[in-house]
Amino acid sequence: MSGVSFEGVTKRFDTVTAVDALTLDIVDGEFMVLLGPSGCGKSTALRMIAGLETISDGVLRIGDRVVNNVEAKDRDIAMVFQSYALYPHMTVAQNVEFPLKARKYSVDGGPPRKLTADERAERVDDAVKTLGLAELTKRKPGALSGGQRQRVALARAMVRRPEVFLMDEPLSNLDAKLRAQTRLDIVELHREVATTFVYVTHDQVEAMTMADRMAVIADGRLQQVGEPQTVYERPANLFVARFIGSPPMNTIEGEVAEAGVVAAGASRIPFTGDVAKGRKVVVGLRPEHLHLGEGDIEATVKAVEWLGHERHVIVDIAGSKAIVRQETDEGAAPRIGETVHLGHHVENVHVFDAGSTERLN
Ligand SMILES: Nc1ncnc2c1ncn2[C@@H]1O[C@H](COP(=O)(O)OP(=O)(O)OP(=O)(O)O)[C@@H](O)[C@H]1O
Ligand SMILES: [Mg+2]
Repeated sequence: MSGVSFEGVTKRFDTVTAVDALTLDIVDGEFMVLLGPSGCGKSTALRMIAGLETISDGVLRIGDRVVNNVEAKDRDIAMVFQSYALYPHMTVAQNVEFPLKARKYSVDGGPPRKLTADERAERVDDAVKTLGLAELTKRKPGALSGGQRQRVALARAMVRRPEVFLMDEPLSNLDAKLRAQTRLDIVELHREVATTFVYVTHDQVEAMTMADRMAVIADGRLQQVGEPQTVYERPANLFVARFIGSPPMNTIEGEVAEAGVVAAGASRIPFTGDVAKGRKVVVGLRPEHLHLGEGDIEATVKAVEWLGHERHVIVDIAGSKAIVRQETDEGAAPRIGETVHLGHHVENVHVFDAGSTERLN
């Protein structure tokens, strides 16, 4: 078992800086999610851990060992990809056993050696049971569902008993229901093997539900690292604020009018925290933290979307579009064109600098 540490790690491809001076300590045994939009450099960061990309600058460690110049085959990691990359002509059991035949392993800290047939069988047996594949070991990948194939790929990583598991968007080929199930399977696998996982995704729901901590990345740069709840409750800047949460956080431009109050059009929005009067700010309010009724914020109803258990009421606040989430049993939907008042708790107001976009409160 080992942690992974990035110290000012940069990766340049010609003119593109895919990963820009990344400093991040992934703790031994932790489930770390690298989260960010397409092209932000997540896969590149993961591939550097795997040894599949060279490092342009900085120091990368797995455990205590600097691995900048260690070849992929000499790193004790296992990687699972979006495409399962199973061998179609082999059975499930043969696919899972494959990495055990392909290379030597150190057992109980001894020198690397080939595993015996019994040792291999035991590891395969253990992995297929853990991942609920015991009934399917004689099938070939062509006769499996997408979710089952991905579990075979996970089992194949598990038999290696690596120091670090790396996963690059392993759920993106699955439909919504299977994604939710496989998400749980992976979290359970992590608990079972108690090893460091580094998991890449652009899906904030995966990050929120699976991560011990997540690292939010934009344009190759780390924006914030923290537990999901912390990142949700105290996003460090506007990018993180808008990326985490669904529907996304509403943002309204305004100016601090007096201590603890932002003026935005006709609305005066009280908040907690100490931000100087006159400062140009962007106020962030999550749809789930606004409620229709009494309140300081004046809004005009533009549309109502009905989703069964809840409604999304789309409103205009001082020229900005905003969404209010309303439980269906909270009462009747407002009429289009109606002026409404929105209430909120002051501690749920996020205040960001309009220029730097950094959090101020
Ligand atoms: N081999 C390469 N040569 C040149 N540029 C590359 C190479 N690999 C990646 N890039 C660039 O580096 C940046 C980061 O790519 P990366 O694949 O790490 O993004 P990502 O966050 O994994 O995106 P996605 O969610 O789409 O998989 C992108 O601008 C990409 O075009
Ligand atoms: Mg990628």
